[in-house]
Amino acid sequence: MTNSLLYIRNLSKSIGSITPVKGISFELERGSCTALLGPNGAGKTTTLRMLAGLLSPSGGEIQYEGGGKSGRDWQKRIGYLPQYPKFYGWMTGMEYLIFSAKLSGLSGAQARKRSLEVLDTVGLREAAKRRIAGYSGGMKQRLGIAQSLVHEPSLIMLDEPVSALDPIGRREVMDLLSRLRGEVTILFSTHVLHDAEEVCDRMVVMVDGRIAEQGSWTELREKYRQPVLLLEVEPAAREEAWLRTLPGMPFVESADIRSRTAALAVRDLDQARNALMREMSDSRIRFQRIEAGTSSLEDMFMKVVGG
Ligand SMILES: Nc1ncnc2c1ncn2[C@@H]1O[C@H](COP(=O)(O)OP(=O)(O)O)[C@@H](O)[C@H]1O
Ligand SMILES: [Mg+2]
Repeated sequence: MTNSLLYIRNLSKSIGSITPVKGISFELERGSCTALLGPNGAGKTTTLRMLAGLLSPSGGEIQYEGGGKSGRDWQKRIGYLPQYPKFYGWMTGMEYLIFSAKLSGLSGAQARKRSLEVLDTVGLREAAKRRIAGYSGGMKQRLGIAQSLVHEPSLIMLDEPVSALDPIGRREVMDLLSRLRGEVTILFSTHVLHDAEEVCDRMVVMVDGRIAEQGSWTELREKYRQPVLLLEVEPAAREEAWLRTLPGMPFVESADIRSRTAALAVRDLDQARNALMREMSDSRIRFQRIEAGTSSLEDMFMKVVGG
């Protein structure tokens, strides 16, 4: 890809006898927002730590566009927010940012100027002179994002930036990410599909150290789109027994049967609809609701993650 900021080829990491990352490859396009999505233990944090230069890979390569292969070259061009950031509670937000900016090599005057700019970006200008210990979860996380931006990196990597937040904090951070989109390349990890869908245009799904799926939302929606029939019957033993026979029917590809409801993935919607109506009429099934639709991204995620 000509417009890639970062290439990862066959990247792996072994720690003792375990291999949290088992050979993954993907690319990040300049200006894109990509979600690294996967359940706990998938290897997201290990991957991000390698990309941030905090952990050395056991195999494979990481290449930043124009940046050579040495971590030192590109570390200046990345901002990283760890999953469990630690702040010095006695510092003020402003002090913390100046401190971080100087660590990234900015001069005193530059550090001050950039700190004020990023405080504006994340909406913490008012709170700049307050001690971090008094910040809410959402404010701390926004300060963490400000810190990741202070040295004007081309890429920021955020490890589960909203997972530990209450709904208000989550909303603050999600809105901030939406605003940052397009201004800087973003890679952020999450185990929540919804979060990924809200701000990102692409996703890389990791399961058990491997990439289970990747692509843009449109590509994945298209790929996993499947007609489904949803059915709800009267709460009666006869109806419920009949529901349990549905997975064996020829028009059903896969079925999720609960006590009174069935979700049937089918190949041909019209054919399946007719067959189902015939079955219901022959067996005199008292239904409460029938619905035809298509599977959601949620179904896709469950399929990919479930293996
Ligand atoms: N330093 C370590 N020592 C032992 N096991 C580790 C270490 N780092 C990660 N792991 C294991 O590797 C797997 C992936 O971890 P992690 O990258 O944190 O996943 P995620 O961020 O997706 O939840 C987990 O099973 C975790 O317990
Ligand atoms: Mg993690």
